[in-house]
Amino acid sequence: MRFYIKPNIFEDSILLNLKNEIETFFQAKLVTVESEANVVFVLDKSIYPGYLVKKMNQEKVIILAAETVSLLQGFYYYLLNLINNDFNDVRQTPNQAIRMIDHWDNFDGTIERGYAGRSIFYENNQFLDDYNRVKMYARMLASVGINYIALNNVNVHHEETFLISAKHLAKVKFLADIFGKFGIKVMLSVNFASPIRFGDLKTADPLDEQVQQWWQTRANLIYDLIPDFGGFLVKADSEGEPGPFAYGRDHAQGANMLARALAPHHGIVIWRTFVYNAHQDWRDRTTDRARAAYDNFMALDGKFDDNVTLQIKFGPIDFQTREPVQPLFGALEKTNQIIEFQVTQEYTGHQIDINYLLQQWYEVLHFDTKHGQPELLLKDVPQTKSPVPQNSGVAAVGNVGRDDNWTGNKLAQANLYGFGRIAWDADLTPEQILSEWLQLTFGKLEHLDVIKEIMLSSNATYEAYTAPLGVGFMVTPQNHYGPSIDGYEFDRWGTYHFADRNGLGVDRTVKTGTGYTRQYADANYAKYEDLTTCPDELLLFFHHVDYTHVLHDGKTVIQHIYDTHFEGVEKVKQYLALWPQLEDELAPIDYQNVLEHLNRQLKNAVEWRDQMNTFFYRMSGIPDNQERKIYA
Ligand code: GCU
Repeated sequence: MRFYIKPNIFEDSILLNLKNEIETFFQAKLVTVESEANVVFVLDKSIYPGYLVKKMNQEKVIILAAETVSLLQGFYYYLLNLINNDFNDVRQTPNQAIRMIDHWDNFDGTIERGYAGRSIFYENNQFLDDYNRVKMYARMLASVGINYIALNNVNVHHEETFLISAKHLAKVKFLADIFGKFGIKVMLSVNFASPIRFGDLKTADPLDEQVQQWWQTRANLIYDLIPDFGGFLVKADSEGEPGPFAYGRDHAQGANMLARALAPHHGIVIWRTFVYNAHQDWRDRTTDRARAAYDNFMALDGKFDDNVTLQIKFGPIDFQTREPVQPLFGALEKTNQIIEFQVTQEYTGHQIDINYLLQQWYEVLHFDTKHGQPELLLKDVPQTKSPVPQNSGVAAVGNVGRDDNWTGNKLAQANLYGFGRIAWDADLTPEQILSEWLQLTFGKLEHLDVIKEIMLSSNATYEAYTAPLGVGFMVTPQNHYGPSIDGYEFDRWGTYHFADRNGLGVDRTVKTGTGYTRQYADANYAKYEDLTTCPDELLLFFHHVDYTHVLHDGKTVIQHIYDTHFEGVEKVKQYLALWPQLEDELAPIDYQNVLEHLNRQLKNAVEWRDQMNTFFYRMSGIPDNQERKIYA
């Protein structure tokens, strides 16, 4: 293979990296004469955004793009197709402008909700100088089109507050340079109370001129060192993090103050809408956490500066296995938006249980918000409903750590790969993405279908033995793995199931409940409000019903709970029975890794089944109509 890059000058660090990448992958120098090459990269201002791959003849491919980062992405696309030996003319344009991974890494090396070992960036309040690993990671992210990364936890603890100080910025720059070569902009999570924490001021009031000046000086310092710095990610007035509420200011005032400090440098503020009352009294049936984001932010639509983007979790509660789509989407008209997902498997199995999340994301992204004619799918919201599409897109909490295979369970790599792919093209199906990942990861295997079968059913399996009918949060408090049905029932977090001897679920209707359903566009409101049209998988999210309530498939709620929990365990047993077919084909380390995790998954599934079935049998007194073993 002979490569040529036009223009043949490499002042741009991304272009230089492209040259290095080609030389690394093909162990060959670029040729100096265009006609001798069979792969030619051309900067062409008319091809924007994305890139164009043109097959000239059997021998020659040309990749054109306006931006050097897109040429690099075109190169990775070329590699993918080389492996699949499938070349056709193709114009690739990303669905989303921002395609971001958020790290919840702490400076001490721990990772909030991390399940794959310690941080790849930090240890013991210092930067881990393992830049080789970071480079491999940057390559992986770039290969699927990720273009933003946040380097630290949104909960900004003591030491992390000082990541924006001269003491640490030199090392941040080091990381920013590595990511920068791969076309990825670095952002930092900042603490809203930084001016106070630094010991410089007595207030962090966004309307105070000294505070504004403080942030301006800080921004200037950062950009002097890191000219392509992305900006700030902010969790404010959320779960104990400081924010503008302390000064009687709103989120727009808080976000805009930071945004104005970054604006001269073209930086952005990504401001999270995960704001709710985290000190709720379980006795209080009027407050509804699901309502919170909409109640806090809808009235602020149009009040945010152009370089502010709201980062909104895909659902109203918290990355549950099953919850509806956040009603702010489609309703907001004058605010930049990012949809937030969680690749790290906090509520979805801790990377112990296999859970191929693309199934969930595909469904969520194709949800019709009913705010458009003939439709407005969630996937199209960031680019069509944001005043500055360039500052809008998707983000996800990442799932890598220092484990040798990056993600703890080897198969969880597919979620990171897949997130990048759907961020680029939300119409790629979970099957297509999985096929790509399997091909790239394992090559040709005789029993590839076994892995496919397991992974493609894994999301439904996890839902079956954990959360029935959209109920959510019956997990062990704090760590969120394994069952604890009443674990949150009398707690302050606003996540209740209200099970009693007659039934369960949260009444969120306008008629008799919290009125949350009214936050949706008319058609969705009507669908969710009415018991007969509410989709079964979300029934208990929207309604409190009797155990004998009959679902659309003719089963009662209680029988559905029993059936799914028995079936979920059987599925995991099936996976364990299938897996040995791969023993001779996979590297022993990968084979064992998944086997070991499957064994742990089975234990988890059995525990869920038995606790759930016993609990609801004791509550309802209604036996299983198939007389299976329930520990009464
Ligand atoms: C969840 C998670 C927290 C995290 C929070 C957030 O509640 O359990 O660890 O800090 O989300 O998204 O900010």
